[in-house]
Amino acid sequence: MSWYEQAIRPLLFRLDPEFSHRLAVEGLGIVGRLPGGIALLRQLAGVSVDGRLRVDFGALSFPNPLGLAAGLDKNGVAIAEWFALGFGTVEVGTVTPRPQPGNPRPRLWRFTEQEALVNALGFPSAGAAAVREQLLCRRFPGPIGINLGKNATTPLEQATEDYCAVLAALWDVADYVTVNVSSPNTPELRRLQEVERLERVLAAVQATNRKLAFLHGETVRPVLVKVSLDLEPAALVDLIALLEACDVTGLILGNTSTDPNLRPPGAEHLPGGLSGKPLRRRAVELLARAAELAGERLLLVSVGGVMTVEDAIERLRLGAHLVQVCTGLVYRGPGFPSAILRALLTALDECGLPSIRFLRGR
Ligand SMILES: Cc1cc2nc3c(=O)[nH]c(=O)nc-3n(C[C@H](O)[C@H](O)[C@H](O)COP(=O)(O)O)c2cc1C
Repeated sequence: MSWYEQAIRPLLFRLDPEFSHRLAVEGLGIVGRLPGGIALLRQLAGVSVDGRLRVDFGALSFPNPLGLAAGLDKNGVAIAEWFALGFGTVEVGTVTPRPQPGNPRPRLWRFTEQEALVNALGFPSAGAAAVREQLLCRRFPGPIGINLGKNATTPLEQATEDYCAVLAALWDVADYVTVNVSSPNTPELRRLQEVERLERVLAAVQATNRKLAFLHGETVRPVLVKVSLDLEPAALVDLIALLEACDVTGLILGNTSTDPNLRPPGAEHLPGGLSGKPLRRRAVELLARAAELAGERLLLVSVGGVMTVEDAIERLRLGAHLVQVCTGLVYRGPGFPSAILRALLTALDECGLPSIRFLRGR
């Protein structure tokens, strides 16, 4: 057990889940802004920077395969600090075009025994303009993803306009963007995973992407799509064909689950999506099928139930190019990313591999 699990977590877990989350993220941001704060965080985390962990995919280059999943830093208040803890990429958001408060509280619950969370946050967001302020004129040691969403009051038929509005507001400060069609907490959003609806969304997003690239005299931003872990593996065939047809760069598998069979006791009647350890099996199953279908043609990002260093290594072996962590950070603490990086380096040494990409399929 780490010092976090022994000493800090019991204190944090006595507080309301949403309050302790805010305290942790904003506290991290404050430490980072102190003189020498970033260097201190790097030192405390004991981060390993090693070229063998680099992941290159098309125009994207990640210093390591570990990403912060969307949802932990919705407004981008501690980006440099997440990198200092060891992450190789940070996904900010979900960002909505206009600021919105999200669903009424309570809307976040812990299930400690199961190492799980249930959240029904519903995209609380400072809005695209405020997130832009956090990112403007700043440089980070790895790619920044912006997770695009729609406002709760926008009808589903006009969701495309919201995705394009956030894209337009943040295009120049994003290294990649994620079209999030999988949050269970915005009514009907997951219907956008249906192939015909998704095709319309992606066509509009890519048209805006191309227009912005032309205006800025740059290349288009890589677009990723984040789907739910409740998707049937069989649905991946059509989904992956669509993503390729729409010039999508990557697939994130996936978002929280509403499956009643996975709910811990006491969570049966809660609204929202489940995250953490109970998602592991499903995330592994979908990733394995996606890797079979997409090979190297899509950037595959596995997220869901990465709670141990072994989980992270398993995802990379199964074919993920990147692994994102969300609930694992709540249960394992700020030392978790660097522990994963160290374990990856040990795995490379043990197998005599020159680079992380050779872990695939081993
Ligand atoms: C509190 C919380 C908030 C989240 N917010 C978002 C979000 O705004 N956008 C999104 O795409 N995913 C969001 N997620 C989903 C995570 O990014 C991730 O896909 C999911 O939790 C599974 O990973 P995990 O088991 O590591 O948590 C959220 C998850 C949690 C627990």
